[in-house]
Amino acid sequence: LENGLARTPQMGWNDWNSFFCNVNESLIRQSADAMVSSGMAAAGYRYVNIDDCWSTKSRSSSGDLVADPQKFPSGIKALADYVHGKGLKLGIYSSAGTTTCAGYPASLGNERRDAALWASWGIDYLKYDNCGDHLGQNGQQRYTAMRDALAATGRPIVYSLCNWGQESVWTWGMPVGNSWRTTGDIASNWNSITGILDQQVGLEAYSGPGGWNDPDMLEVGVGSLTGTEGRAHFSLWSLLNAPLIAGNDIRTMSADTRTILTNTEVIAVNQDWGGRQGNKISDNGNLEVWRKPMSNGSVAVVLLNRGTSTSTVSTSASAVGLGSASSYSVRDLWAHTTSSSTGTISASVPGHGAAMYIVTGGGIVTPTPTPTPTGTSAI
Ligand code: GLA
Repeated sequence: LENGLARTPQMGWNDWNSFFCNVNESLIRQSADAMVSSGMAAAGYRYVNIDDCWSTKSRSSSGDLVADPQKFPSGIKALADYVHGKGLKLGIYSSAGTTTCAGYPASLGNERRDAALWASWGIDYLKYDNCGDHLGQNGQQRYTAMRDALAATGRPIVYSLCNWGQESVWTWGMPVGNSWRTTGDIASNWNSITGILDQQVGLEAYSGPGGWNDPDMLEVGVGSLTGTEGRAHFSLWSLLNAPLIAGNDIRTMSADTRTILTNTEVIAVNQDWGGRQGNKISDNGNLEVWRKPMSNGSVAVVLLNRGTSTSTVSTSASAVGLGSASSYSVRDLWAHTTSSSTGTISASVPGHGAAMYIVTGGGIVTPTPTPTPTGTSAI
């Protein structure tokens, strides 16, 4: 969507994956605080997003959505002011149907009214779900109506479509939204993550600056997902140009989880200004190779081991798309070390794990900072 936003994939946090309907203003405030104090804001995370269950069960007598006074006693506008005061942005949630997935009133038929209300509160991001009665309209109609309502407010609001890949949303999402969910909901386990990954194959042609395939929010640091699994998940979502929306409790996260989410070398792959999504180039049962061409001519590579025991995963510079050079530099984005190679890229990868590299033709080069995007960077 050409609204000037999400020229690189949007980055932030959302309460759903860890808190579900248990949302309230102190959680949101504390999470905004944690986004800054943890270093996540410095690493590029901007959006603090409220998911389902924030409103009362019915609209006001004048027809407006109402923030639940038990959960948000200060109101959403005051919360937006607080979040903005931290240099961050506030997101909200509704659905392109008559109700949200948890049964709260939603926005189909009330697009202009609701968008105007959110804009008056200072909302910067909308996640727009697919639950409730669709009143006979298809997804493209329902999601376009809200796009136009958001535009009519005059306020820059990132527009995140959440229709779970239905109606091949990637084929019509680009002019409608800044991102579109490509699958059903993620869960904090390895099978969910790899199952969603499998559904991304072939979608790389459809995303680009302003509109991104969304394989759902991050489960890094949630439930029993291990650090090894979390690093693989974060590597792959970065390579896929996915919106990086953390779903863990960032107020209480472990040092290991924080280190994963703030790995700026991995984030730089996601935020590369060229905006080309990575794709799978080989699949040998449990061992897969994914690569993303970077705008400076280097290639990001993920070596994935889906199995349960440590295995060697290998590819070559030519297989990932680099030309012939006598020597390549191989930057390990998790170990933060650089080595040289004559063309083989190989690692011993633990089960449910991944290695991630930037491979550059022509010998060892000193890592250079990612060029500053010319557009507005996800703000
Ligand atoms: C759907 C969405 C989830 C979450 C819930 C809220 O399942 O896909 O991401 O927003 O609704 O009820």
